[in-house]
Amino acid sequence: MTDSILDARDLTRDFMVGGSLFKAPKRLRAVDGVSLSVQAGETLAVVGESGCGKSTLARMLMRLDRPTSGEMLFERQQIDQIEGHALTALRRDMQFIFQDPFSSLNPRMSVGGLVGEPIETHMPELSAKERRAKVGTLLAQVGLRPEHADRYPHEFSGGQRQRIGIARALASGPKLIIGDEPVSALDVSVQAQVINLLADLRDELGLTLIIIAHDLAVIRHMSDRVAVMYLGRIVEEGETRQIFENPRHPYTMALLSAIPIPEYGRSRNTIALTGEMPSPMAPPKGCNFNTRCPFAREACHIDAPDLRDAGSGRGHRAACHFTEEIAQQASVTTNVASNPRSDGARDRFALYADAIAGRTRIRPQTTPTKHQEERPVERAATPSHKETLT
Ligand SMILES: Nc1ncnc2c1ncn2[C@@H]1O[C@H](COP(=O)(O)OP(=O)(O)OP(=O)(O)O)[C@@H](O)[C@H]1O
Ligand code: SF4
Ligand SMILES: [Mg+2]
Repeated sequence: MTDSILDARDLTRDFMVGGSLFKAPKRLRAVDGVSLSVQAGETLAVVGESGCGKSTLARMLMRLDRPTSGEMLFERQQIDQIEGHALTALRRDMQFIFQDPFSSLNPRMSVGGLVGEPIETHMPELSAKERRAKVGTLLAQVGLRPEHADRYPHEFSGGQRQRIGIARALASGPKLIIGDEPVSALDVSVQAQVINLLADLRDELGLTLIIIAHDLAVIRHMSDRVAVMYLGRIVEEGETRQIFENPRHPYTMALLSAIPIPEYGRSRNTIALTGEMPSPMAPPKGCNFNTRCPFAREACHIDAPDLRDAGSGRGHRAACHFTEEIAQQASVTTNVASNPRSDGARDRFALYADAIAGRTRIRPQTTPTKHQEERPVERAATPSHKETLT
């Protein structure tokens, strides 16, 4: 705990939905008692199915949203209730990379304006000339060219726009960056480039990263630790290798069953994930995974399991009453390399593995390389400039 940069304790976020003149709104608990601790310099991945609460959690951690209850500390300072100057100061240290590079950049602002805006906010002491120079440096850092500062977002491809978003996030000199599905809107080949870029920047600038993703291939190659979410709760967390090699929660086992782990070259337990995730407006009693868990029994419908030591050390924890038993018992083993469901995922894993193995310095540079997409896209500028953090 001594080096933790961000701590969340028992965070809960409720939304009241579906109310009308004649009907009381219902409570939807999107995040349900999440506690986590992020160590300085690490990359924590948060993974889970669509609707499990990843973005809601990320928005609270970033203080774009307030928790209904619970508390958060950044560098041991309470941040869940701060406002005004204190919140602006926090923005300097914590930045966000949005999922959709098409709508997260104001189409009416030039790239220089977009990247320069947070510099102006957080470093008002810089002259216009110094600011322009800093914008040029930031663009080079993300593999773009200083002259791109005069162009507009619609003149860039998706990957380039995400690089602009990253430059903008870096502009205030943050210590922590939260990326909510930062590559999922991009072509697979471009995803690997952006992942590489983030990994390079993390190493060079000593950043701490929280990456929200549902693609396990991304997570495997980027993160030091993984937190697995299901229906608003963290059901397992541990070092990436522990999670991938030795999952202890049936939900994590099921997520991993759908993908190959070719580098380990071994068989492992597989569990098919059937059915839908229940509505967060009516979560099951007891363990919230009991409607889909092949190991569920009576006790699972009564008591909700706490996150507890999973038996393999180093902070590996799982929320299941029968962790040890299931780890021994899960007996259906399949050679994952021959799993026909895995073809697409296997390709993606191979692609990321290649990209990361041959990780090349992709900036600064003066001429475009194969890592850069120079192809401007036709897509029209999206008018919804949803959110920008300065
Ligand atoms: N502003 C809101 N009002 C009402 N319900 C919301 C709101 N934001 C999120 N939710 C609900 O909270 C739950 C969690 O949503 P969230 O967007 O955090 O999931 P997610 O894990 O990020 O999903 P995805 O992978 O699809 O992005 C969902 O049931 C969603 O419908
Ligand atoms: S507590 Fe029961 S239902 Fe929940 S994951 Fe464990 S075995 Fe499955
Ligand atoms: Mg989301």
